[in-house]
Amino acid sequence: MQTTQAAWPVKTRELHNHHFDSTIWNDFQFRDDDIVIATYAKSGTTWTQQIVSQLIFQGEEGLPVAEMSPWLDLRIPPKEIKLPEVEKQTHRRFLKTHLPVDALVFSPKAKYIYIGRDGRDVVWSMYNHHANANQLWYDALNDTPGRVGPPIGRPADSISAYFDTWLEQDGEPFWPFWENVRSWWAIRDLPNVMLLHFRDLKDDLPGEIRRIADFIEVEIRPSAWPRIVEHCSFAYMKANATPSVPLGGAFWEGGAQTFINKGTNGRWRDTLSAKQCEAYEARARAELGEACATWLASGMRGQDMGGRNAAA
Ligand code: A3P
Repeated sequence: MQTTQAAWPVKTRELHNHHFDSTIWNDFQFRDDDIVIATYAKSGTTWTQQIVSQLIFQGEEGLPVAEMSPWLDLRIPPKEIKLPEVEKQTHRRFLKTHLPVDALVFSPKAKYIYIGRDGRDVVWSMYNHHANANQLWYDALNDTPGRVGPPIGRPADSISAYFDTWLEQDGEPFWPFWENVRSWWAIRDLPNVMLLHFRDLKDDLPGEIRRIADFIEVEIRPSAWPRIVEHCSFAYMKANATPSVPLGGAFWEGGAQTFINKGTNGRWRDTLSAKQCEAYEARARAELGEACATWLASGMRGQDMGGRNAAA
């Protein structure tokens, strides 16, 4: 049976806020072997950057992954500084984005990896990220040239209230959640798009690393395999967080180890009421449709996704 392939995505808008400057993609010169690692945020971006770095460099230790794999659409440093830096890179590039598909320039040749995570887990991770951010973080986001829209404020004292605001105001105080997930899900059948899920990474890290290797067409040297798997484990990444985390963790109280926090899902279960969970789940189904909402909640394993995005 033939499946119809979605058309190549076209950029239809720009996104600007305290974090974003999506216009950088308009001037970005793609190479055919570029890899783009995309998430809404707090969904396993750093983990996937680590996996991709380990595959490209066959388990090498001490790679400055955050520096090698910049968040392109973060407006700091500005594109005049960031673009020449990525242009200078001679290794296979792997870039990070948090944009929805329609705010990106999409290359038919580059490989795109999108990682999903249940929105409740995202908020738990985001609260830790935001509540531990130091003054440097606020200064960089709020007081540097190029910010569009309101500054980002301090988080609510209670994580439950933070969650309610995020759900009721779609991503507030970061950016809209549902459109981000929906836009990537819609193009999952393109030959150069791969969906990953945080839970699948946790359930079967070696299997998912191999799936990523196949997708980005990296052959794993058997002698490198044990190192690759070890270097992508939570324990290793927590103990060696500094080179993997943005600015070595300088924006957070407790440094890089605050960013690589717990690495678990479901921490919201003890805090959110049944009513809050129902509101989240109903919204997820309404925004994403049944299949995508199910994937976002539980990943691919056990689901019939069909094709390349099926569970291994
Ligand atoms: P928690 O805050 O829930 O612990 P991102 O890189 O998109 O900002 O996502 C950060 C989340 O990924 C954090 O989740 C962090 O702990 C988790 N993470 C990073 N590396 C991990 C690993 N090797 N194993 C499990 N979780 C990891």
